[in-house]
Amino acid sequence: MRVLTGIQPTNFLHIGNLFGALRPAIDLQRENDLFMMIADYHAITAEHDPVKLHDNILFTAASYIAAGIDPTKTVLFQQSQIPAHTELGWVLQTVARMGEAKRMTQFKDKSGSNEDKVSVGLFTYPTLMAADILLYDAESVPVGDDQKQHIEFTRDLAQRFNRDFGDTFVVPEPMIRKHGARLKSLTEPEKKMSKSAPSAKSYISLTDDPDIIAKKVRSATTDSEPGMTFSKDRPGLHNLLTILSLIEDAPGDELASRYDGMGTKALKDDLTERLVEHLRPISKEAQNLVDNKDELIRVIANGTAAAAKVANAKIAEVRERIGVAL
Ligand code: TYM
Repeated sequence: MRVLTGIQPTNFLHIGNLFGALRPAIDLQRENDLFMMIADYHAITAEHDPVKLHDNILFTAASYIAAGIDPTKTVLFQQSQIPAHTELGWVLQTVARMGEAKRMTQFKDKSGSNEDKVSVGLFTYPTLMAADILLYDAESVPVGDDQKQHIEFTRDLAQRFNRDFGDTFVVPEPMIRKHGARLKSLTEPEKKMSKSAPSAKSYISLTDDPDIIAKKVRSATTDSEPGMTFSKDRPGLHNLLTILSLIEDAPGDELASRYDGMGTKALKDDLTERLVEHLRPISKEAQNLVDNKDELIRVIANGTAAAAKVANAKIAEVRERIGVAL
């Protein structure tokens, strides 16, 4: 099966990205044909610092590899270096309807009351994402819950294009895990954990030091109800138990009974310890890879060249279909 996913190199990756998308992709790597993209052209839809973006592109690639992406098996590539992405993104803007684009909840969330001030790119971003997926005939797209609507939009565009211009695109399926597909903010557990959140206390980045992890977990919002239950009605606690359950591969309700009686402090202490153990090898290896920058750039360039072959063949077919190829 052909699988594709991508992460924006906005700041460092957080554990939501790790458990929601990166791990699921890594698990599919052995038996599938995986394309793992650095979505750098998505990262310029909000104001950005070019120097930081440059570093984050390298750090994102390094985090993929450190977490388990094997660039000899998986095509690890950089979106911006393959013009077919922006070209198909444009074509798909002409296939998409204003009404459906306006229904995208992520745009509404990200623009908030500022709709007239955000970039046009933030609005059209789902068509670029659809292009990323459709260029590669991806059948499955492992993502967190927040991207589900964008994959449904991609499916609609693929079906409409196929109907109007002939069978060209594979219609992809989202692959969303039952657990870990929507980790919540540590400070406001009704909201999702997000890299672009105003407070770094709300997420745990793969590169956080042990004392920072300890501080963030200690100050994570829980509730004052007695006892411990694994229930969505107690979002803060549910989130901490979910994170521990992902690391320990144990059901959340089993963990809730383990810590019932011991209290939230014991849960937070153990979670800190397990998170530190879990993330330390990833951040250490990512740092090593970034320190060997030339080699890392070579690995990305190799993957990008392999991806470009697939993308260029598809965009040539699209040009034929829509009548612009002479
Ligand atoms: P991005 O960079 O916001 O997030 C990357 C991946 O991490 C998942 N994720 C989460 N999962 C669980 N809990 C969370 N709190 C959490 N926050 C984020 C996201 O669902 C996503 O899977 N537009 C995409 C990047 C992209 C892409 C693509 C993905 C561009 N082209 C093509 C798949 C296929 C984005 O901004 O993800």
